[in-house]
Amino acid sequence: MANICVLDHPLIQHKLSLIRDENTSSKEFRSLVEEVAMLMAYEVTRDFPLEGVEVQTPVALAKAKKLAGKKVALVPILRAGLGMVDGMLKLIPAAKVGHIGLYRDDETLKPVKYYCKMPADIKERDIILIDPMLATGGSASAAIGFIKERGAKNIKLMCLIAAPEGIRAVQRAHSDVDIFAAAVDEKLNEQGYIVPGLGDAGDRLFGTK
Ligand code: PRP
Ligand code: URA
Repeated sequence: MANICVLDHPLIQHKLSLIRDENTSSKEFRSLVEEVAMLMAYEVTRDFPLEGVEVQTPVALAKAKKLAGKKVALVPILRAGLGMVDGMLKLIPAAKVGHIGLYRDDETLKPVKYYCKMPADIKERDIILIDPMLATGGSASAAIGFIKERGAKNIKLMCLIAAPEGIRAVQRAHSDVDIFAAAVDEKLNEQGYIVPGLGDAGDRLFGTK
């Protein structure tokens, strides 16, 4: 069974409260989402392997550690996942970025795919799939399926807010994928929105609507 890890760092929780607020403007919303993504990246990369190195400081030779050259790809689900990419790249600047375009059909709530472009060496990379909202879990489950079809094996899912329904759906479809979220909310409403959530993440990020 996939793990769900809630990142309860005070800075993440504080910024998430501002993100949820309906009075937060698109401009502020964008910067806050980027900042939270950066803070979350810190936790999501906690298991990255290190290797010992020797570094000559101005004083002496130090036994130190560096990342052991892990190859990473960030994969935002369009549109809203885009809002988290720059924050993550600040901490993982060498990551490549793939894109999956999906939108939810308003009536069926099923994901409709319109774009997919992955780094050529995706098979060799560890994937961090990013989307602020895990609602029914349909979009994330489909995106994970597309990534696996291309041969990637080690996949993590990072979102701001998850609904219990979405967590269960991803756990059922992809028990190997660990989920990182800043909050797990109460439920979905009849329109498939997370309650209390933050509204429509894409619209709030890009000022559409
Ligand atoms: C939102 C969100 C997720 C999806 C989550 O995207 O960014 O991708 O809904 O819902 P699900 O878990 O029920 O699949 P949306 O479909 O609104 O597209 P957009 O980002 O282009 O606005
Ligand atoms: N997509 C969003 O943007 N918000 C939700 O609450 C659910 C799906």
